[in-house]
Amino acid sequence: MPVPGPGYAITVRVEAPPSASSAGDLTSAVGRVGGVITAFDVVESHPDRVVVDITCNSVSANHAQDITDALEALPGVHVRKVSDRTFLIHLGGKIEVGPKVPLRNRDDLSRAYTPGVARVCTAIAENPADARRLTIKRNTVAVVTDGSAVLGLGNLGPAAALPVMEGKAALFKKFASVDAWPVCLDTQDTEELIKAVEWIAPAYGGINLEDIAAPRCFEIEARLREKLDIPVFHDDQHGTAIVVVGALRNALRVVNKPIEDCKIVVCGVGAAGSAIVRLLLLKKPADVLAVDVDGIVHPERGDEDPNLAWIAAHTNREGARGGLHDALVGADVFIGVSAPNLFGAEQVATMAADPVVFALANPDPEVDPLEAQRHATVVATGRSDYPNQINNVLAFPGVFRGLLDAQAHKITDGMMLAAADAVADVVDGDRLNASFIVPSVFDAAVAPAVADAVRKAAGEAE
Ligand SMILES: NC(=O)c1ccc[n+]([C@@H]2O[C@H](COP(=O)([O-])OP(=O)(O)OC[C@H]3O[C@@H](n4cnc5c(N)ncnc54)[C@H](O)[C@@H]3O)[C@@H](O)[C@H]2O)c1
Repeated sequence: MPVPGPGYAITVRVEAPPSASSAGDLTSAVGRVGGVITAFDVVESHPDRVVVDITCNSVSANHAQDITDALEALPGVHVRKVSDRTFLIHLGGKIEVGPKVPLRNRDDLSRAYTPGVARVCTAIAENPADARRLTIKRNTVAVVTDGSAVLGLGNLGPAAALPVMEGKAALFKKFASVDAWPVCLDTQDTEELIKAVEWIAPAYGGINLEDIAAPRCFEIEARLREKLDIPVFHDDQHGTAIVVVGALRNALRVVNKPIEDCKIVVCGVGAAGSAIVRLLLLKKPADVLAVDVDGIVHPERGDEDPNLAWIAAHTNREGARGGLHDALVGADVFIGVSAPNLFGAEQVATMAADPVVFALANPDPEVDPLEAQRHATVVATGRSDYPNQINNVLAFPGVFRGLLDAQAHKITDGMMLAAADAVADVVDGDRLNASFIVPSVFDAAVAPAVADAVRKAAGEAE
């Protein structure tokens, strides 16, 4: 059951009679149709009327309309306009570029720009490694997309992907002081995309691939990693995998099970699921069963996709067959990055004792978390309205902070495992419990801890 949230927050400007009961009538009307008022401001007052801004959370665009209609239906009330607060914060974009150096006079100009800058250009031409010291390359990441898999919305194209990429860039800056810039490419041709990223790479210290559909994302990332001398990281894959593996370490501490004894079901073998399986296998669980829309993955399925073929060869030790419900029987852990509403409490009941359920499909998880809680000891989702939110923000800012600081040329499995451990370790023993296996995304300790772990692992990898 969705609850009103800030994603659908509106401000309704209404004219109402100046009577003593007016405020109560307005707030009751919003409450009756399920809106949650967060602010009530009188913006104008006249002898015959008041003008009020009512700000409230709703569950959907239709619900916002219901709220507006309920206000308009009150005697003597007129709705002047409705502002969608989410659209308001996007007006003109969410990020900007600003100078870091003073440009007050001719003197400043001569050093920051011509003629002084020419000597810096020459220095870099003579020693290209100096670009990391003397340019934005030191601290800048390209957030690259083709818009082929935007959030859960599908192939919306590069322009419609831009609000997400801007948001990502804003998070990079806010959480790790990384200067990230959206690069939305108007091509979904694998070769063109790889070429375009190669061409822009000189200005960046890292490439964050984003919202590029599977299976193309696997080839694009692998080939760019081969070609470029800066780290390439597809966040939908590895950001998710890092947070999941870190969260799982803490969940298994809660239920007191070593991962070596655990049978883990990963449902969804797309971008997120594949990376989760690969990172998890490095932790040597007893077994991993990968499940996709065609059921449990096994070699005899004859999957031609190289990613699925690899997963078939490295999972499912006992040769299990069947669908998701079969896979769940006796499993210690379920990790879902697939589709909504695939099972219920009765399937959770078939899992091993003290099961751990990470149902991460967005916005609706594989199993209703309240249903899962009837039998599972630890439940996590991707949602902010339940405990244990698995959110990539816990990983990517710190990962790139560490990579940039280390001037790393690549990202390795060792760095990703170190990042996962760092996320887990932020939740110290005293705070760890079934409702708190990952830190809050606003915990200021997370990004520095992840960055530190990645920096150290990068030092060891050099
Ligand atoms: N909370 C998080 O941190 C987080 C992070 C990444 C992805 N996700 C969510 O995970 C989901 C998948 O994301 P993705 O980028 O990997 O998508 P994707 O399209 O690359 O992969 C989806 C996978 O799910 C499988 N699938 C689809 N329907 C299924 C079904 N009925 N039964 C079993 N498997 C099914 C597909 O076969 C495919 O393997 C999305 O809902 C996404 O929002 C959440």
